Amino acid sequence: MKNKGVILQGSSRSNGNTNTIALFVKEKTGFDIIDLKSKNIGAFDYGFKNRNDDFIPLMRDIVDNYDTFIFATPVYWYTMSGILKNFIDRISDCLKTEKEIRYKLREKKMVVISCGSDCEIKEGFTMPFIEAANYLNMEYLGDIHTWIEYGIITKKLKKDLDVFIEQKNIQLL
Ligand SMILES: Cc1cc2nc3c(=O)[nH]c(=O)nc-3n(C[C@H](O)[C@H](O)[C@H](O)COP(=O)(O)O)c2cc1C
Repeated sequence: MKNKGVILQGSSRSNGNTNTIALFVKEKTGFDIIDLKSKNIGAFDYGFKNRNDDFIPLMRDIVDNYDTFIFATPVYWYTMSGILKNFIDRISDCLKTEKEIRYKLREKKMVVISCGSDCEIKEGFTMPFIEAANYLNMEYLGDIHTWIEYGIITKKLKKDLDVFIEQKNIQLL
């Protein structure tokens, strides 16, 4: 069965390298892109003082409308971007105050696309995603590392992305 999915773009620049990759994946999958940078999402707060920002409406939207979440993040200092980490931290709100959203997360699938300056990624990069998926009872479909050379996606990487999308069965079209 084909999935309906969303690419959650976590870059500090809306039209940067991660966006180049996200646009390629959107073209191949038909998935929507949500630019997390364009949202007002505060840091996790123990008193939930950011409860009225964009996070809860965004989460309601994505759990109600999509089956697969693709986290597309640049590699910043060997790990995911701060924007994406902030977003993932805020899922803690759902564990306490938005249990309906937390419950719906159980049915969802997770994919991770990293985008660095190097064609290789350090071991351990994907661990927080895999463990978060396990904790949230989401299905972790897999991950692929990408990079941009001279502003473009190499032919080989395009092919690898095509194979990844096919293997993970994440096309909508
Ligand atoms: C703050 C910062 C830290 C970075 N750290 C890494 C790193 O640890 N490993 C790496 O391969 N690239 C690193 N880079 C390069 C970016 O991952 C790379 O240029 C990426 O394609 C940028 O995507 P963006 O245009 O969406 O931000 C870093 C870039 C920035 C701005």
